[in-house]
Amino acid sequence: MDNYEKISMVVNGKNYSLEVDIRESLLEVLRNRLHFTGVKQGCSVGECGACTVLVEGLPVNSCIYLAVWANGKRITTIEGISKAGELSRVQQAFVDEGAVQCGFCTPGLVLTATALTQTGRKYTDEEIKREISGHLCRCTGYNKIFNAVKRVLNE
Ligand code: FES
Ligand code: FES
Repeated sequence: MDNYEKISMVVNGKNYSLEVDIRESLLEVLRNRLHFTGVKQGCSVGECGACTVLVEGLPVNSCIYLAVWANGKRITTIEGISKAGELSRVQQAFVDEGAVQCGFCTPGLVLTATALTQTGRKYTDEEIKREISGHLCRCTGYNKIFNAVKRVLNE
């Protein structure tokens, strides 16, 4: 049985066509084949949010998202967030609030917060907490992370 399929996807604005094992996760393809190592591998079972990327602008846990499902889709990783070497508004808010310690959870959180900014709506404190609750920070800097996300959503 042939376990491979050809897929095409746009990652950070650039088109990629490659053959993937139908059992490969998007995380594995992004990190190991395309070398977007800003996508972090934590739990591998959809619990920690470290592997979050945007698929068509919405956050997904790429460790439990098959690469074949990304066929024809637009993917954004942390490498695609800054423009011309300038930090994005969300990245700057994380810096300004000191919301980064080891940084392992940061790419996923920045991507989820970026998706929230793109909805164009306001979020209550409780809603912000719920929206970022899928991200575990081993360094437990949750207050500063919350402050960074709140700051950028209230700008
Ligand atoms: S590595 Fe994907 S959710 Fe933890
Ligand atoms: S900053 Fe270390 S895991 Fe969140």
